[in-house]
Amino acid sequence: MLKNKDILDENKKILRTKSTDVIFPMKQDDLNNINLMIEYLINSQIEDMCQKYKLRPGMGLAAIQLGIPKRYFVIVHEAEDSKFTNYVIVNPQIISASDEMIYVDSGEGCLSVNRNVEGIVPRHARVTVEGFNIDGKKIKIRAREELAVAFQHEIDHLNGIIFTDLIDKEDPFKDMNKYRAI
Ligand code: NI
Repeated sequence: MLKNKDILDENKKILRTKSTDVIFPMKQDDLNNINLMIEYLINSQIEDMCQKYKLRPGMGLAAIQLGIPKRYFVIVHEAEDSKFTNYVIVNPQIISASDEMIYVDSGEGCLSVNRNVEGIVPRHARVTVEGFNIDGKKIKIRAREELAVAFQHEIDHLNGIIFTDLIDKEDPFKDMNKYRAI
């Protein structure tokens, strides 16, 4: 089982690496990691488990957050009460994005950022992501709102970008009226 300490903190330099494409077939280690990432994220979103194992609630994890510079990530999205959908995408690419921009009103979070960060992180309201599943089969996912934010956040990780980079340093709430709050 993954522990909090297995997830790298933002001060770790490796988080700034641009991860490289996965070559299929995927290695057993990577498949094991994916299962651990899914398990952590699901447990972290179930209150009892979250408390029992002292997890931090999270929706997504990229391989680089475990120190693995490969292009894959996991998102566990609670679409309705206690109904989780898992997304595992390998070598993802955003192939289209809406002009409309949004931001998470309560602020974005990240399991690698262990502090409260205020400010606007502009994101596309809708994105279409292409990539591969763990078997190397091509997949395409359309995401909107919260899920679209999660996809953009995780793809940023694969490029060495953390959400705090996208907040204006001088004026964290700059241009907030240009974007829709979610
Ligand atoms: Ni993150």
